Amino acid sequence: ARILVLHGPNLNLLGTREPEIYGRTTLADIHAAMDARARAEGVLVESFQSNHEGQLIDRVQAAAAEGVGFIVINPAGYTHTSVALRDALAAVNIPYVEIHLSNIHAREPFRQHSYFSDRAAGVICGLGAQGYMAALEFALSRLRETQH
Ligand code: DQA
Repeated sequence: ARILVLHGPNLNLLGTREPEIYGRTTLADIHAAMDARARAEGVLVESFQSNHEGQLIDRVQAAAAEGVGFIVINPAGYTHTSVALRDALAAVNIPYVEIHLSNIHAREPFRQHSYFSDRAAGVICGLGAQGYMAALEFALSRLRETQH
């Protein structure tokens, strides 16, 4: 079983980027924690970050062929703009959880609309880096269910 974790633009800067909003945990820290947890369950977690919309779309399209069973995605700024990334997820029809470190509903009005939420299995926001572990637990339980 495989889980793909997708990180949109500027999330490569986690740890130093507006730490009062996004925290001090780095992307490498998040990946290491998820990797260790999933390994214990015999599940492979792959992380991919890009600042480029097309690369994220290509990665989603490739996931179908690779047998990815679940996607955890923080589309970052593309959350509020990208019909194309939304369409890619719909095309591959792999279930996903949408996640944001910050509580997007407590911020600027333009962050309160997401192109991803209505198709998501669920949405996590405002839990900081811990939200990724919550999303992973959910993904692991979904994969367990579908394997039985
Ligand atoms: C974010 C929230 C988005 O509005 C913002 O553009 C990001 C990060 C978050 O994780 O809180 O880049 O997705």
